[in-house]
Amino acid sequence: MHRRLSNKYGEELQLRPLRSSDASNFADFLRNLGTETRARFGPHPLDESTAHALCTAQPEAQIQRLVLCEKQAIVGYFILDFTPAEAEQQRYQQAGIGLNFQLEPRFAPCIADHYQNQGLASLAMAELISYCQQQGLKSLVLMGGTQASNLRAIHFYKKAGFAEIGRFYTAYNQQDNLDMRLSL
Ligand SMILES: CC(C)(COP(=O)(O)OP(=O)(O)OC[C@H]1O[C@@H](n2cnc3c(N)ncnc32)[C@H](O)[C@@H]1OP(=O)(O)O)[C@@H](O)C(=O)NCCC(=O)NCCS
Repeated sequence: MHRRLSNKYGEELQLRPLRSSDASNFADFLRNLGTETRARFGPHPLDESTAHALCTAQPEAQIQRLVLCEKQAIVGYFILDFTPAEAEQQRYQQAGIGLNFQLEPRFAPCIADHYQNQGLASLAMAELISYCQQQGLKSLVLMGGTQASNLRAIHFYKKAGFAEIGRFYTAYNQQDNLDMRLSL
């Protein structure tokens, strides 16, 4: 996967896998995520040592990490996680849906604070969908759902074609959340 995209100002971006030479730029991306973004996106620690560990580790068989780059800077990060996840499995089962994570990976997106709400995730999403279709995947399942208060994310997901599957409450942050899935 390596796609060239143009933002609304005609500037070039690249969507490609995270690589070992990204360690410093990825650390900058994670370090600069603000409080509100961190409250919405937490697939792993968002710190420098995690950035270095993820960039220098052997490629993970079950997880694809893609980054959206503008020149040298990383401005977006998208995770496709094919690891079976019991929590999602159970919640989807309650909705009568059996998940096959090899074909229905969990998905988590994040755009750098200063680049949010400028159409970048929507731009990247079109490419991600076509990439996932080419890989023969069946659906994308939101990793951990999305907080019901995350109105921008919900709008973005619905626009991309995600459908609401169910609602669940998480006590640790006292929030309602939505499970959403995109059929490919
Ligand atoms: C959610 C996120 C990935 C979306 O990426 P983005 O590049 O900001 O999204 P886009 O600019 O492509 O699209 C945002 C859409 O939401 C709309 N929007 C913005 N604020 C909104 C709000 N409060 N209510 C409803 N819609 C809203 C925008 O108008 C735009 O819609 P449009 O394309 O129809 O005009 C990004 O904002 C982000 O990383 N947020 C913090 C982390 C996060 O929430 N991750 C998801 C965890 S589930």
